[in-house]
Amino acid sequence: MAESMKGLKRTCRCAELSEQNIGQTVTVMGWVQKQRNKGSIVFVDLRDRSGLIQLIYEEEDCGTENMDKAARMRAEFVVAATGVVTRRDGGINENLKTGSIEIHVKDTRILAEAETPPFHIVEGLNTREELRLKYRSLDLRRPDMQRRIILRSQIVQYMREFMSAEGFLEIETPILCKSTPEGARDYLVPSRVHPGNFYALPQSPQLFKQLLMCSGFDRYFQIAKCFRDEDLRADRQPEFTQADMELSFVDAEDVMDVNERLIQYVCRKAIGVEVQLPLPRMRWIDAMNDYGSDKPDTRFEMKLKDLSDLAAGCGFGVFADAAAAKGCSVRAINVKGQAGMPRKKIDALTDMAKGNGAKGLPYMAVKEDGSVKCSFAKFMTEDELAAIRDRMEAEPGDLLFFAADRNGIVWNVLGALRLRLGEELGLIDHDKFNFLWVVDFPLLEWSEEEDRYVAMHHPFTMPMEEDWEYIDDDPGRVRAQAYDIVLNGVELGGGSVRIHRSDIQEKMFSVIGLSMEEANEKFGFLLTAFKYGVPPHAGLAYGVDRLVMLLTGADSIRDVMAFPKNKDAVDLMSDAPNTVDPKQLEELSIAITAALS
Ligand code: AMO
Ligand code: AMP
Repeated sequence: MAESMKGLKRTCRCAELSEQNIGQTVTVMGWVQKQRNKGSIVFVDLRDRSGLIQLIYEEEDCGTENMDKAARMRAEFVVAATGVVTRRDGGINENLKTGSIEIHVKDTRILAEAETPPFHIVEGLNTREELRLKYRSLDLRRPDMQRRIILRSQIVQYMREFMSAEGFLEIETPILCKSTPEGARDYLVPSRVHPGNFYALPQSPQLFKQLLMCSGFDRYFQIAKCFRDEDLRADRQPEFTQADMELSFVDAEDVMDVNERLIQYVCRKAIGVEVQLPLPRMRWIDAMNDYGSDKPDTRFEMKLKDLSDLAAGCGFGVFADAAAAKGCSVRAINVKGQAGMPRKKIDALTDMAKGNGAKGLPYMAVKEDGSVKCSFAKFMTEDELAAIRDRMEAEPGDLLFFAADRNGIVWNVLGALRLRLGEELGLIDHDKFNFLWVVDFPLLEWSEEEDRYVAMHHPFTMPMEEDWEYIDDDPGRVRAQAYDIVLNGVELGGGSVRIHRSDIQEKMFSVIGLSMEEANEKFGFLLTAFKYGVPPHAGLAYGVDRLVMLLTGADSIRDVMAFPKNKDAVDLMSDAPNTVDPKQLEELSIAITAALS
C-alpha cells in the first residue's frame, strides 16, 4: 500500500549530501535502485536526479514497522526516508559521489510501489531503442539520459543569458502558419472554421523574424519549435528546436562574430571547453573539393584529390569520359595502410558507393613490393598509373578509391566513404571540437528532380554583389552571402544576409521559376512589409538538438530530446499519429481516401 507524504518535506536531493552533512537529520525521496536484505539489516540505494545515496535500515534505529517496509522495497518503488547522515562503516564506494556516507534511517514511507520495469534503470543500457522509446519515462530515469537532458536545459539557459546580454529580445512567433513553397514538405493542420483550408506548421520562423526586423526590433532571438515532414536520420527529427536569431543593420561578419562568441560562451559554461576564436573559415568549393561535403569533418585528413587532368585521354573510358565532360571529374582518396583490405570489405564499400549514386568503385592497392592491384589497370599505361600514384602520394601499403562522374556524385561518394573509413579505422579523435564556418555557398543549385534552379539556402538569401552580373547567363556561378557553422562534420546552424531590395528579390523569384503573381500570392505579406521601409538584415539558426547531441557526445538527436519520434516519425510511447473519431473528420470536412493501415 502506498502512503501519503503528508507532513513530510524533502530536505535535499540524494547526492547533494556529503561528509559535511554527517550528523544531520535529513529527508530524501526518490526511487529504489537496489535493495539488499540481510535479515537484521537492509541496504537500499536510493536514486533521484542528483544520483544515489545508500540507506541503512536496522531494527534498533527504526523499529519493526520500518524494517518490514524496507524488506518490501523493490526496484523503482518511490520511497521517502528520514534519518541521520553517517560515515560509512563498510568502506568507501569509490564509484559513488556519496560513497563515503550513508543514511541511518529512522522513519520511512513507501510513496508508490512499482511493477518490475521492462528494463533496468542503469547507465549505458544496451536494449532495443523501440523498447526505450515505448517506455520513455523510464528510459529518461537512466543517469546518462538525465545528464543529457539536464545539460540541454543548461545549454539553452546559457544561450538565453548570452543573447539577452547582447541586447536580443526573445519574441514568440506563430505555430499555425501559412504554407509557403520552397524548403521541406509542410505539416498541415486543417481549419475547422474554414473548410478545405489549412495552416502549415512552421519549418522555421524565417519570414516572421524578417517581419520583426521590419518592425524595428533589430535583434530578435527565439528558442523555436520547427516542423519538417522529411525523411528522418540520426540527426533529423520531424519536430526539432532551433535557436533562431535575426539582426538589423549588420553584415555577415557581424552575425558570425556574435555567434562565435555565443558558441564560445556556451562551450565554456556547459562543458568547460575553451573554443579558440576566430573560428576557421572554409569556402564551400574547398569543402567540397577537399572533403566531399559542405559540412566537413576536419578531425582527420584523407582528403579528396582531383585527378581529372591526369585522367584526360587515358585508356579507361569511365575516367576519360568524366575528365572530358563539363561539371564532371575524376577524384580519389588515399586510405593509408589498407592495401590488404579484404575483397568482401571492398564489395561492401562498393555497395555503399552505388547507394550514393556511383556506378562502381574503382580501386588501386599498392602492395608492399611496390606492385599494384588495380581494378582498371588493364586500361591504363604504367606511366598513367604512376602519375596517379604520385598525385595521391600513395606509398606501399596504401589503398586508393576512385570516383568518376558528375561532381555532385563524386563528392558525395568519396565524402561518405571518407567518413565511414575514418570512423571504422579509428582515425577520428573524439575529444576534438572542430568548429568551422563554411562560406561562399552557391546561391542556387540545379535540381534534376524539378528541372530548375532552387535556392540552396532559401529564396531570401542575398547574392554576393560582385557575382550578381552572372545571374542571367550563368546563375550557378553566383555565390550567396550565406554561412553555415559546422562542428565535427555536422551542420549545426546556417544563415545568411537577406535580400532587402525588391529588384533583387524579384529577380531571385524569377530565376527559381516563381512568377511575381505566385510570389505575391505566397509571400505577399513579406513583400508588402518590405515596401514600407525594410532595414538591411541578416540572421542564423542553430539546431539546438544537434548542438546538445555533439556537446554531450550522444550518437543521435533522439538521445537529447525528451520525447522523440522514431525513424518512421511515430511516437512509440503515445502511438501518435493515430486515427481519429469520424466525427472529428466530419467537423473538419475531411474524407480519408487512402486505405487505413
Ligand atoms: P536551416 O534549414 O539550415 O535554416 O536550419 C537551421 C538548423 O536547424 C537544424 N535542423 C534540424 N535539426 C533536426 N532535425 C531537422 N529535421 C532539422 N532541420 C534543420 C540544423 C540546421 O543547421 N531559417 C533558416 C535559418 C536562417 O537563415 O536564419 C533555417 O531554418 O542544425
Ligand atoms: P542531404 O544530403 O539530404 O543531407 O542534404 C544535403 C545538404 O542539405 C545537407 O548537407 C544539409 O546541409 C542540407 N540539408 C538538407 N535538408 C536539411 C535539413 N532538413 N536540415 C538541415 N540541413 C539540411
